[in-house]
Amino acid sequence: MNTMIFRDMSYGVYVTTSLDGNRPVGCITNSIMQITSDPATIAVSVNHNNYTNSCIDKSGKFAFSILSENSDPSLIGTFGFQSSKENDKFEGVDYELAAGLPVIKDSCGFVVCRVIDTMETETHTVFLGEVIEAESYGKPDNAMTYAYYHKVVKGKAPKNAPTYLPEVDGAPVTDESEALQGKKTGKWVCQVCGYVYEGDELPADFKCPVCGQGADKFKKVE
Ligand SMILES: Cc1cc2nc3c(=O)[nH]c(=O)nc-3n(C[C@H](O)[C@H](O)[C@H](O)COP(=O)(O)O)c2cc1C
Repeated sequence: MNTMIFRDMSYGVYVTTSLDGNRPVGCITNSIMQITSDPATIAVSVNHNNYTNSCIDKSGKFAFSILSENSDPSLIGTFGFQSSKENDKFEGVDYELAAGLPVIKDSCGFVVCRVIDTMETETHTVFLGEVIEAESYGKPDNAMTYAYYHKVVKGKAPKNAPTYLPEVDGAPVTDESEALQGKKTGKWVCQVCGYVYEGDELPADFKCPVCGQGADKFKKVE
């Protein structure tokens, strides 16, 4: 079986959001597809370990914002490489509420759904949602595809992504919590993928081993 053929399947890149009580939460997903048009229904696959999964389950609602090629790539680092369980991912992010759910303004637009069914797999829940609200921000930008994210942004997908392929790029995918346990004097976080560099100084020519971004995409953790 050659699972590399999965790389030829097409997806978008989305910020899938929900509510934890009144608190906005969300994660990056690529596994979203439209299932029917009338009534419009959408399916999204969310890992059991993602905090967003339990929030969609409890609130019975989810929204997704469709990232564009011009959306700030740090949205992917913020929403795709850390958890809402410990972080307020919306701090500093321009968002609004649509049908009560948070949606990201730096995107092509959004869709809001109420959950009408679920299907469990060993690792992921597939939420089937009926669309209750949808809007375009009317920008001329192309929607970001998963292929564009890999080839142009040079980003990686963490293990929770259903489309994760471990051996493709040979670079270790780390997560912030793992790296933050280090004992070096300084820490710099890649704003694209959340990779944490630890050392005394971030070299000017440093390249993120996870997503390939340069030192200018790193922010020092104070
Ligand atoms: C490009 C990309 C695509 C992803 N696709 C999915 C996906 O389709 N489903 C999923 O469950 N996780 C996906 N993830 C992983 C989650 O976004 C990630 O595990 C996130 O940190 C979970 O946050 P949470 O715990 O706040 O829900 C993806 C991540 C990236 C970077």
